[in-house]
Amino acid sequence: MEFEKIVQKLAKQYKQRIVLPEGTEPRTIRAADIIIKEKIAEIVLIGNPDFIKDFAQKENLQHIQFATIIDPLNHDKIEEYARLVVEIRKNKGVDIDTARELIKKPLYLAATIIKAGDADGEVAGAENTTGNVLRPGFQLIKTLPGVSLVSSVFVIILKDKEFGDDGMMIFADCAVNPDPNEDELAEIAVTTARTAKKLLGMTPRIAMLSFSTHGSAQHKMIDKVAHATKIVQQNYPNLLIDGEMQLDAAIMPEVCAKKAPNAKIQGNANVLIFPTLEAGNIAYKLVQRFAHADVYGPIMQGLAAPINDLSRGCSVNDIVNVVAITAIQASQSKKSIDEF
Ligand code: ACO
Repeated sequence: MEFEKIVQKLAKQYKQRIVLPEGTEPRTIRAADIIIKEKIAEIVLIGNPDFIKDFAQKENLQHIQFATIIDPLNHDKIEEYARLVVEIRKNKGVDIDTARELIKKPLYLAATIIKAGDADGEVAGAENTTGNVLRPGFQLIKTLPGVSLVSSVFVIILKDKEFGDDGMMIFADCAVNPDPNEDELAEIAVTTARTAKKLLGMTPRIAMLSFSTHGSAQHKMIDKVAHATKIVQQNYPNLLIDGEMQLDAAIMPEVCAKKAPNAKIQGNANVLIFPTLEAGNIAYKLVQRFAHADVYGPIMQGLAAPINDLSRGCSVNDIVNVVAITAIQASQSKKSIDEF
């Protein structure tokens, strides 16, 4: 709850414009009303304007009138946006007719609106899969300068405050890249460190996880994590990162003292980097269900403007929080990347 209050308060300072392409989805309309009322962000809703207005009237949602509503089939900027899509995707064979068809789809229109500078970030996923939400962003918005891979983090708030930063930890990548190679894993670690620092004000202490600690076992899966760790250490010597290591060595000082006495992270990691999506996705759900941790995410990182994905089971409150996080990221993505 504390985390939610902090992000909502921060988002209010930035006054970002967030586009919600699932603009006729009931939870999304209800969330938009709260976001506008609380001044968390300005809202662009994509969808049939009559439907949205009728819904708002029936539910007495008095702030929807202050949203910008864009009908994907009928708006002033169809030609401008279609030309922009052609410019970005012509090397992929996209002509003007294909572009006009693409931007009838709300998820493609939302990414185009951001690329055109008419919004700062996007939240979707209440009725679309992760892949469908992300693909238009990958194709049209692309990555931040110096970043080649979009990945994701979860913010984990544990009941047990002895772990991480007073119970707060970052897990990555638990939602996007199924099997990153060693260079990609290194990039995920660095991008996650930036997110931890810029979004959450943390000093990252990163553990690169595996089923071995500093060579206690041999396998090519372990080599991948060990090599990724070295790549980061060589390029960012000031970053606190250690690996490969097992989870217990990463989070328990007494285990770390036995298994890796020379580790930079003395069993006090606050950022955990998982070797594959299987490991990361399973791990965050284990912590959520068995340890009753609050989890926020996936929060996407590395895009030139933020797009965040909702769970299809999301609540109105989840949408409000993800919009707040997206607004903070949007404001930060316009600033230069800090190095460590
Ligand atoms: N970063 C940047 N760009 C990317 C990335 C990435 N991680 N992945 C793909 N792209 C780009 C490609 O370069 C390509 O661009 P181009 O068209 O300009 O050449 C475009 O995106 C499409 O690439 P594909 O290889 O066709 O990727 P695809 O669309 O098949 O897959 C996706 C991307 C959907 C994100 C895939 O990685 C995926 O399915 N990941 C798992 C998502 C998931 O199911 N997560 C678990 C559920 S989430 C949860 O539990 C909370």
